[in-house]
Amino acid sequence: MNRNTMKRVFSALGTVASVGAVGLLVYSSSAAREPFTKQELADQEKALLAAVDHGRDLWHGSLPSMSTNGLACGNCHPDAAASNPHTFPKYQADLGRVISLRDMINWCITVPQGGKALDVNSADMIAMEAYAFYLYRGTKIAPGLATEQTPPVVVEGGVGYSKKGSGVGYDRESTGENR
Ligand code: HEC
Repeated sequence: MNRNTMKRVFSALGTVASVGAVGLLVYSSSAAREPFTKQELADQEKALLAAVDHGRDLWHGSLPSMSTNGLACGNCHPDAAASNPHTFPKYQADLGRVISLRDMINWCITVPQGGKALDVNSADMIAMEAYAFYLYRGTKIAPGLATEQTPPVVVEGGVGYSKKGSGVGYDRESTGENR
């Protein structure tokens, strides 16, 4: 094959490729997804609410590995209070870096609750996030500011509430120790 023939072959290949690309464009636009049907939307919402519901259970102590001191998230963050999912990612002073909500959830599992961290990609972790975000829906997303961190609300009684302070944050203050 001489140079000229090769040039012709390449230019022919180029034409084939561009025709292919245009074809793909036409194909993909003609194959645009139809709007979800009412049934599909209902199924999707049902799946989301099932995750929120599972998150609610986990948040209130349904998974024993998440705690070794009888505390559940709901004791300090009733109804996901003061969990502020809308402020993540942000710089977390205790960890000294910018973290995601799931990192913070694992911090609270391992530190105030002395439990075993969840796999960050597990259905349980997704459910934990689904619960927090669902209760904060409509809140403006405002990632980043540590100053927006609000202290947790400690519930003084209820299922799973430990009489002994965990020694963290407000809980430490409520046991009379200094921070
Ligand atoms: C004993 C009380 C206590 C329990 C139980 C607890 N937390 Fe926390 N939580 C805290 C404290 C204290 C902070 C603030 C930590 C800080 O700022 O360094 C906090 C902060 C958070 C934040 C970040 C809030 C913000 O504004 O940045 C999230 C999210 C969170 N907790 C989720 C959870 C989840 C999920 C659980 C259950 C697995 C849980 N917490 C259990 C005390 C608790």
